[in-house]
Amino acid sequence: MDKLKITGGQPLSGTIPISGAKNSALKLMAAALLTPEPVTLKNTPNLADTRFLSQLLDTLGVEVYWPKGESTCHLNAAELKSTIAPYEQVRKMRASFNVLGPLLARYGHATVSLPGGCAIGARPVDLHLKAFEAMGADLLVEEGYVKAAAIHGLKGAQIVFPMVSVGATEHAMLAATLADGETVLENAAREPEIADLADCLNAMGAKVSGAGTSTITIQGVKQLHGTTHDVMADRIEAGTYAMAVAAAGGDVTLTNAPVAAMSSINHALRNAGVQVDADVEKGTIRIQRNGGKLNPVNIDTAPHPGFPTDLQAQFMALMSLANGTSVIRENIFENRFMHAPELSRLGANITVRAHEAIVTGVDALRGAPVMATDLRASVSLVIAALAAQGETDVSRIYHLDRGFERLEEKLTNVGANVRRVSEEEE
Ligand code: UD1
Repeated sequence: MDKLKITGGQPLSGTIPISGAKNSALKLMAAALLTPEPVTLKNTPNLADTRFLSQLLDTLGVEVYWPKGESTCHLNAAELKSTIAPYEQVRKMRASFNVLGPLLARYGHATVSLPGGCAIGARPVDLHLKAFEAMGADLLVEEGYVKAAAIHGLKGAQIVFPMVSVGATEHAMLAATLADGETVLENAAREPEIADLADCLNAMGAKVSGAGTSTITIQGVKQLHGTTHDVMADRIEAGTYAMAVAAAGGDVTLTNAPVAAMSSINHALRNAGVQVDADVEKGTIRIQRNGGKLNPVNIDTAPHPGFPTDLQAQFMALMSLANGTSVIRENIFENRFMHAPELSRLGANITVRAHEAIVTGVDALRGAPVMATDLRASVSLVIAALAAQGETDVSRIYHLDRGFERLEEKLTNVGANVRRVSEEEE
């Protein structure tokens, strides 16, 4: 098993290119199941999660041409050999569940394993299933699988989500593209990745309007065709590096950044006293912090356009160095503070009370061995380690590899001292 050895305390300077968004790419790849024609996705991030999904698509019979290290992924679902997504593959990566809607919409049946819980909470899929039922699907949940059938095809429906769910919004949108008639999704999630998915679907011949707002309307069409689409840039990766520079100090420009999608993130950083110069036209964000103290900033995670839960851990690492106390409230997931005790091992002063973490800034963090517990938590430890004095070993970094492309290379290029070592090298 690999770990990262990080020697902190160096300011960062230079340029970090931002990769394609994991959370967008995963849904765009599932969208390729909707058409017998080729779908080409450019700017696809090379990550454990996107590779897992490409393996599942291959199992279903999709022709996948995606040479190692390349960012253009070619998918051709001309003829599938199966509409069954097995547990062994769905369990590795929750978003694999998103193949259910496209398979059901195109073939009228699908059997997909339930994804199960994960480290950050139970994460049910009830809203996804209710949406398919509203579209006329018969569902049977047995032996850990969802067996779905819509023999005469899916039908358009009026769906009011009782709570905002990114996954359920995207999944219902995917399925509704081939349904008979109009589907209206109310209280839909407004994440930028949903608008990216709608753009790709519309380029495939779908009729989706309102994506990015809380009401999305989809006029079903008989069939979709192939397209080439650029995966949008990853706002969580961009926000993560911005917070790394803010914590360690320095002057770094993020390029290919999704600036328009990052308002709440940039706002929180500016409140913390970090200089953020964003240029929407150029897609760049310059982050500067030169020695000054950080202000404490309270945040509440919320669906977009609120502060993203996927940056809560990283912001907590930053606030652990602020000049005062901040309150970080997690409103999306039930168990998303597992990084707090690990950050405390580096000297942070954090008290967790139910959905709140009270972070009292300290003058300095100190290196220590820590353990990654989930994707975003693991990168918060990297941020803290970059700011800490001395050496930190971050173990279980397979979590990091799920969502951060070429992390060591990107950080090393801006002057960080980060090395990947295998336990055997020790
Ligand atoms: C997506 C993102 C994840 C991000 C999250 C919230 C992907 C691959 N993942 O996850 O990185 O943290 O959005 O921005 O895009 N819920 C239910 N029933 C459902 C579905 C969701 O109760 O059927 C609950 C969840 O448990 C959670 C909340 O709704 O408490 C929001 O989850 P959701 O927006 O669906 O997150 P994901 O799509 O799983």
